[in-house]
Amino acid sequence: MVKICCIGAGYVGGPTMAVIALKCPSVEVVVVDIWDKRIAAWNSDQLPIYEPGLDDVVKQCRGKNLFFSTDVKKHVKEADIVFVSVNTPTKTTGLGAGKAADLTYWESAARMIADVSDSSKVVVEKSTVPVKTAEAIEKILTHNGKGIKFQILSNPEFLAEGTAIEDLFKPDRVLIGGRETAEGQKAIKALRDIYSQWVPEDRILTTNLWSAELSKLAANAFLAQRISSVNAMSALCEATGANVTQVSHAVGKDTRIGPKFLNASVGFGGSCFQKDILNLVYICECNGLPEVAEYWKQVVKINEYQKSRFVNRVVASMFNTVSTKKIAILGFAFKKDTGDTRETPAIDVCKGLLVDKAELSIYDPQVTEDQIRRDLTMRKFDWDHPMHLQPISSSSTLEQVSVVSDTYEATKGAHGICILTEWDEFKTLDYNKIYENMQKPAFIFDGRHVIDVDKLREIGFIVFAIGKPLDAWLKDMPAVA
Ligand code: NAD
Ligand code: UDX
Repeated sequence: MVKICCIGAGYVGGPTMAVIALKCPSVEVVVVDIWDKRIAAWNSDQLPIYEPGLDDVVKQCRGKNLFFSTDVKKHVKEADIVFVSVNTPTKTTGLGAGKAADLTYWESAARMIADVSDSSKVVVEKSTVPVKTAEAIEKILTHNGKGIKFQILSNPEFLAEGTAIEDLFKPDRVLIGGRETAEGQKAIKALRDIYSQWVPEDRILTTNLWSAELSKLAANAFLAQRISSVNAMSALCEATGANVTQVSHAVGKDTRIGPKFLNASVGFGGSCFQKDILNLVYICECNGLPEVAEYWKQVVKINEYQKSRFVNRVVASMFNTVSTKKIAILGFAFKKDTGDTRETPAIDVCKGLLVDKAELSIYDPQVTEDQIRRDLTMRKFDWDHPMHLQPISSSSTLEQVSVVSDTYEATKGAHGICILTEWDEFKTLDYNKIYENMQKPAFIFDGRHVIDVDKLREIGFIVFAIGKPLDAWLKDMPAVA
């Protein structure tokens, strides 16, 4: 029986390994982590992450060929294949701060693998890492002095949160990069044999190590670039009276461009896009390519601009002040169908409104009050560290913020509403009732194209929706970004 151990039981390690266990009953999979509470949750009925379909997959194999454990060393030692799916945050201090990937956790995992191993292993990079990381990892592993042979593979993960199980069941592609030596090719085959139990052969791509590592950064950069492109257009739409939904539909009809990932929004969030682009920018700079670095940096800049533009629009529309005004925040997760708030645009929007002294009433169906308060008090990039290593903020009281369990409570007596996550339930709210219970004029700012703009204007709301033609009120109150 092939034994797999995955270091890191997070959004990637957990679902990915659960699907491997489900699809390969003859493989034993153990997911290990240093964060004991997370492992306890994986072993309970309340899994640590919310992901449609995940409960079902875990229930089918947990205790049979899928295990979760804090005994990291034991399971690494026993494994034939070790996946490493630990955090690779953006560095906050020192060389490359604010851009470069912090490989502290990766390196400590590699050193531990070298220390505990007494048999050859295939070590798989599942985390997103800078191109050429495998070379550094190889050095750490092979200088263990024990003469044990390690083969490094790069097998980046392309799943998106909210659709992780669907994506893992039917991936567009599985990418495996390895050394072009006989041993490297043998390792590639071992991993290929796992995936080919459910992924069609023509969707399993094999490349050299550096192409696989770079493809992951490139794919995320291309995806984020599309969003920044349509978001840049959304600003121009508002200025000219064009409708961004019509523009992106027309643009996406070109088969060379395609219709996906062209939804204008308050900005992209999530743990990957910004981090990976900044990482790419740093790599370009280190390779003496400042023009290329500058090109990709712009994708992040436009995203920052989109979030601050949204805040400015809210404040400018409401007579240039939101001081002591109640603003309802509907949705805090970075997208629907996840409770994940890492780099969610809601953090920057809420912080922007708090600076202008707004009173926020926040509702999200999947995010806890504790998480929201942590997010609003945490420093940039501090979120991407194992939970017990995250600094505890001293100012976590945030008196201007209340977190409530229902939309109607959040909007009661509010001056304005900001929709920041596209949860389906926001489409079917009783907006007549909400309007009745709000201060007048009642404002609604839709950052996710959730509402029917015309219907809400008929009810009496002053409506702003990203990239949609402005009503007379908003035209009179231009927001300067
Ligand atoms: P995560 O924070 O949810 O999980 C990482 C886990 O690794 C944590 O539980 C942490 O406690 C654990 N860990 C850290 N150091 C460890 C060590 N030395 N030993 C044992 N456990 C350790 O992160 P994630 O979202 O799963 O992302 C993991 C990697 O995958 C990152 O590089 C990320 O960029 C990449 N990735 C993420 C996604 C996504 O959608 N979240 C998609 C593709 C790739
Ligand atoms: C992304 C990549 O899609 C995935 O392949 C990679 O493995 C990890 O990073 P994820 O961040 O989970 O996945 O979600 P994604 O669906 O890509 O959305 C990212 C952000 O972009 C969200 O905030 C989403 O709301 C936003 N978005 C997405 C838009 O604003 N407009 C779009 O058209 C699409």
